[in-house]
Amino acid sequence: MSDSKETTKRTQDAAPATTGPLVELSHVEKHFGKLHVLKDINLKVNKGEVLVVVGPSGSGKSTMCRTINRLETIDSGTIRIDGNPLPQEGKDLANLRAEVGMVFQQFNLFANKTILDNVTLAPIKVRHMDKKDANDLGMDLLARVGVESQAEKMPSQLSGGQQQRVAIARALAMQPKIMLFDEPTSALDPEMVNEVLDVMIKLASEGMTMICVTHEMGFARKAADHIVFMADGRIMEKGTPDEFFDHPQTERAKDFLSKILTH
Ligand SMILES: Nc1ncnc2c1ncn2[C@@H]1O[C@H](COP(=O)(O)OP(=O)(O)OP(=O)(O)O)[C@@H](O)[C@H]1O
Ligand SMILES: [Mg+2]
Repeated sequence: MSDSKETTKRTQDAAPATTGPLVELSHVEKHFGKLHVLKDINLKVNKGEVLVVVGPSGSGKSTMCRTINRLETIDSGTIRIDGNPLPQEGKDLANLRAEVGMVFQQFNLFANKTILDNVTLAPIKVRHMDKKDANDLGMDLLARVGVESQAEKMPSQLSGGQQQRVAIARALAMQPKIMLFDEPTSALDPEMVNEVLDVMIKLASEGMTMICVTHEMGFARKAADHIVFMADGRIMEKGTPDEFFDHPQTERAKDFLSKILTH
């Protein structure tokens, strides 16, 4: 059994004392059967950076995100988190998952647990935090995302926007080094989109390293340090928001932007 101190120490030991990228994908390839979904993906995200990933449906955005915490395996290439190759299995993989927080389109809260219990479950089970400390942490995080008054409710009693903010708090409870967001606002009613984006913008401004797949171009312009445009499993363009939105280089990106920005 490991305690939280041991886990922290292991993480520190494993992390090299360099200022290299926090996330690095090199020559990553992935097939689903005959379908070639990731083609020579090369990507670096430095500490504190926000990378926004955009592209048409089926271009491989979700698959790429899922490879970063090894929800999907890769065929070849390497993925490093803080300089360390992704662990294959076991305890090291569990530790990696704790370092990489993920928020999906569907919030996937535990329906039979209170909001606070949803947030404290992993710190208690995985980090072996005692219940009082976990509750204090949970309440702090719920306050950070603006739903502390909902702590004792069940997920079904909350709006979609509130549930998604709880899902963000739940991911933050593991004190991840990086947060991955895969279309976190796509399932929300329009009036709830901004409350979630505002939380993400705040996180970014506090220095969280983030990779966000999103169709919210206003968010991308405001929060992203870099934008990656994917099509057909390939990174077609990389640039700053100004470069990408104002001077797209490829026909695919121009076509994508003309569709997405006209309504
Ligand atoms: N588990 C799977 N098995 C087989 N094919 C898959 C699987 N997951 C995704 N795919 C296929 O891989 C390709 C990339 O899918 P992915 O979900 O990564 O795209 P995406 O860019 O996230 O699309 P969207 O914008 O619709 O979410 C698609 O053709 C998809 O149908
Ligand atoms: Mg997707």
